[in-house]
Amino acid sequence: MTKTNPICVALDTPELLRAVALAKMLHGHVGMMKIGMEFFYAHGTQGYEAIAATGMPIFLDLKLHDIPNTVAQGLKALLRLEPAITNIHATGGLDMMKAAREVVTGKTKLIAVTILTSLSNENIWAAGFDTRNTDQHALNLAKLTHEAGLDGVVCSPLDLAAIRTSLPRNFLTVVPGIRPADAASHDQKRVATPKAAIDAGADILVIGRAITGAADPAKAAADILLSLQ
Ligand code: C5P
Repeated sequence: MTKTNPICVALDTPELLRAVALAKMLHGHVGMMKIGMEFFYAHGTQGYEAIAATGMPIFLDLKLHDIPNTVAQGLKALLRLEPAITNIHATGGLDMMKAAREVVTGKTKLIAVTILTSLSNENIWAAGFDTRNTDQHALNLAKLTHEAGLDGVVCSPLDLAAIRTSLPRNFLTVVPGIRPADAASHDQKRVATPKAAIDAGADILVIGRAITGAADPAKAAADILLSLQ
């Protein structure tokens, strides 16, 4: 699926009817739908099932971050939904990621967030990470994720080149911070166009507001797909 259409649309809304309408509208125009905390915390598993009923693969983006046992047990509960992809934070550390990996059964791919695409170098420094080199920091976290046996990472388009050079090609890269050339960047700081991200080796492009905020979301998705050729 992602080979033919790498677009994963982020259904970021707390409104059930709006999310279902978007999912139906975008069916056939994107390859995957992403459910994040904004929607899942409002509508839980019932809301999830309503989107899954469209038949689209789902990336359940809840970014778990806690001690190893808590993450593993929380993840176990989420895996009953059988998402195509789900995720945790790589900064939870090697032991946490390994504990999470151990509870994954079935076809769900487990990936880890390296550094949020909304964080600039200064933000990361201010948060207490002892580095002014975000690229190196993201690569280190991607390597740790690989060492823990996870399937891939969520990373900025700007981190793709280093990850592709250092880790095997089958290590999945799911990439938010995607903005068509004429679109607003909103709160995202480490961004690239869809084509630049694919050319740098992205497997899946996570795109929210550039599609869901468009007057015609299906057309916006189709235009982005066309821009990749
Ligand atoms: O609207 P926009 O395209 O910025 O949406 C990006 C989506 O990707 C949001 O749902 C956000 O939670 C998610 N995401 C991100 N950066 C990460 C991981 C996930 O922006 N590192």
